[in-house]
Amino acid sequence: MLLTAFLFGAVGFSSRLFYFQALHSSERFFLCFARGNCEIGKKMINAHTQLFGIIGNPVRHSLSPIIHNEVFRRMGLNAVYIAFEVDNLAKALSGIRALGISGLSVTMPFKSSILSFLDEVDEVAQKIQAVNTIAHKDGILIGYNTDWLGALEALEEVIPLERKKVILIGAGGAARAVAFGLKVRGSEVFIFNRTIEKAAVLASAMGAQYRSLSSIDPMEADVLVNASSVGMAPNDGKSPVAKDMLREGMVVMDLVYQPLQTKLLREAKERGCRVIDGPEMLARQGAAQVEIWTGRKPDLERIKRDIYRALEKRAITSQPTAEFRMTDQ
Ligand SMILES: NC(=O)c1ccc[n+]([C@@H]2O[C@H](COP(=O)([O-])OP(=O)(O)OC[C@H]3O[C@@H](n4cnc5c(N)ncnc54)[C@H](OP(=O)(O)O)[C@@H]3O)[C@@H](O)[C@H]2O)c1
Repeated sequence: MLLTAFLFGAVGFSSRLFYFQALHSSERFFLCFARGNCEIGKKMINAHTQLFGIIGNPVRHSLSPIIHNEVFRRMGLNAVYIAFEVDNLAKALSGIRALGISGLSVTMPFKSSILSFLDEVDEVAQKIQAVNTIAHKDGILIGYNTDWLGALEALEEVIPLERKKVILIGAGGAARAVAFGLKVRGSEVFIFNRTIEKAAVLASAMGAQYRSLSSIDPMEADVLVNASSVGMAPNDGKSPVAKDMLREGMVVMDLVYQPLQTKLLREAKERGCRVIDGPEMLARQGAAQVEIWTGRKPDLERIKRDIYRALEKRAITSQPTAEFRMTDQ
């Protein structure tokens, strides 16, 4: 009873957060309660701790809590990031406003439907029609998209995109972001999707060409990007294209990051392609989120290292969820 009143009473989210963190140890919980703050590992949770999180469904597989908690710790921020599995988006957003949660990542299936719930949507996210980041400033919820930047930066590390012929597989939220970035850079984009109607809608919005995935051909493309979920666990072991479509020297990027080594990337390497894996984009879109929330640039290489470590650990333990331990590295 006492605990329930404490959690949902006037002290609001910081006490709830404090409870989440301390739940695993009732002894520590009562110690924290008595002191008014709580030291978990090297992290101080107190009445000033800012709360960030990710909303999606399902969301328990997400690597974002690992990425962001480690970044906050390294930056010395009094902030915590947790995962919210959401059924009702409208109610979740009311809660976020009421509790003063500072920022959110947004994942499937809400990236498009969330636009109508926000007070402001930045120009690029509006064009992409997808939001993966929310900043809560002075009571106003503002939507952004950092997926397009993450994908673009990862590609441009390997190849300049102007006037390049790009095969883009998929027409969902991630494909929208990638298509937008490619068009901004002046690439010639060919969208291939299982459901041709969705390819047509995206192609018309982004000034691209389109076809059904079943009729895909190599067409002398410079770059191939898989932005579909083909190859993603638990349906891994599949590639969206036949191996003989992959030419030596072609740049092949797979947005799928679990498993780390998809069948597409494995076959692309065997054919002599230059490959870019999912964490390259994941790390960059996450870094851009941190910059929106804090105005500071985090260390990209360390974010990548955290992601690879978490994925390798999952591969070894076959665990669908990853645990987060605050470390001193
Ligand atoms: N690395 C990163 O930072 C990052 C960021 C965002 C997303 N992602 C990954 O990108 C992938 C797509 O995400 P999303 O948000 O765009 O999802 P989404 O909106 O649900 O779109 C899924 C896409 O995959 C296609 N697809 C699904 N199953 C298929 C199958 N069996 N055969 C052929 N096509 C199939 C869908 O085609 P239909 O239209 O025919 O259904 C659609 O184009 C996911 O694996 C996600 O984890 C990675």
